[in-house]
Amino acid sequence: MDVIEAEEGKTRFFVPRQDSGHAFPPGTGRIFYNRRMELNRDATVLLTSVLNPREYLDAMGATGARGIRVASECGIPVTINDRDPEAVELIRENANHAGLQVEVTGMNIHTLLSCRRFDAVDIDPYGSPAPYCDSAIRGTLRYLMVTATDTAPLCGAHQKAGIRRYFAHPVNNEYHAETGLRTLLAFVVRETVKYDRGIRPLFCFSREHYVRAHFRLENGAGRADRAVAGIGYIHQCSACPHRVEQYGILPLSEPCTSCGSVTVPIGPLWLGAIQDPDIISAMLDRLPDQPLNTARELGSLLHTLQDELPTSSFYDYHMLAKQGKVSPKPIGDVIAGILDAGYRASRTHYTGTGIRTDAPYQVIMEILKG
Ligand SMILES: C[S@@+](CC[C@H](N)C(=O)[O-])C[C@H]1O[C@@H](n2cnc3c(N)ncnc32)[C@H](O)[C@@H]1O
Ligand SMILES: [Zn+2]
Repeated sequence: MDVIEAEEGKTRFFVPRQDSGHAFPPGTGRIFYNRRMELNRDATVLLTSVLNPREYLDAMGATGARGIRVASECGIPVTINDRDPEAVELIRENANHAGLQVEVTGMNIHTLLSCRRFDAVDIDPYGSPAPYCDSAIRGTLRYLMVTATDTAPLCGAHQKAGIRRYFAHPVNNEYHAETGLRTLLAFVVRETVKYDRGIRPLFCFSREHYVRAHFRLENGAGRADRAVAGIGYIHQCSACPHRVEQYGILPLSEPCTSCGSVTVPIGPLWLGAIQDPDIISAMLDRLPDQPLNTARELGSLLHTLQDELPTSSFYDYHMLAKQGKVSPKPIGDVIAGILDAGYRASRTHYTGTGIRTDAPYQVIMEILKG
């Protein structure tokens, strides 16, 4: 295989040479490697160094970049798996090159996780993680880490695929990045609670073409019931920006209380918190000591996550300005206006034009028009 050396964090490893002229260079190498996922891998390294699991499984390793980095930068026992024999060969070469004692396996994830369990399990498939979540959950003792790159199904752009994979009704609106993430979280919760196990999101975000979620699993039917209680729907008015949250497993649609139009249920969604504030603070504390190439972007993401209000959706104030036929002001002025009016407000990591607030959308409209 024609390989070149890559460097992420303080780790060097080989990746297949790619055709940089291609629309999607990662698709041109024999084994998959996407440079644009470096922040995703940096986040895993930073979080894993905070959680300090007893061992970590990179269940779909490809080049092994993620697992090799966890072994070398977090110093914990690592197993890297891939069902592709050529990937296994490259992972072995990368482990030797880095001078690491890493266990390498070449199994189908379903077979591997039917007979072994790991303290932390990471799944990073092509596209949807839906077919792998059940096996991953059965093989996880405490920490489950999931990447999804099927944002079109999750966010409602490919609605039928979203329904098939997640048995949910996603809607492609201005806050679809958030409902896409929450649709995935609700799915993982449903896949977990059937085993009388609870699950808590620790650190979850949506970025570019992917969603990344990290969870803590806990045993017990009571904990599972508490996780189920975090599931519900957003009822989005079909005619105006008004929406309401409803906890529960069945959507109970009522007309919009603002304009009387029909509302559309989006979900089931995870409506609870998507971060653990102590984990985010610990990651921020550790960030200066961890040599990560994306430290600046990751730090800015973590600060935004730390400040986000715990609402389950946001308003896109540029869209509100367009509807109100006014030109948008700087976001800082709009947020200051909402705070002055006695409400809470924050930015959101999903988009630079998103505002999270407990104020009705009409308050934002008045500020935009004022
Ligand atoms: C997107 S790549 C992983 C990228 C890698 N984690 C990284 O950060 O660079 C997905 C990998 O999953 C492997 N894979 C797909 N289905 C699998 C299965 N059922 N069991 C094990 N590995 C599988 C593929 O061979 C491929 O190498
Ligand atoms: Zn309405």
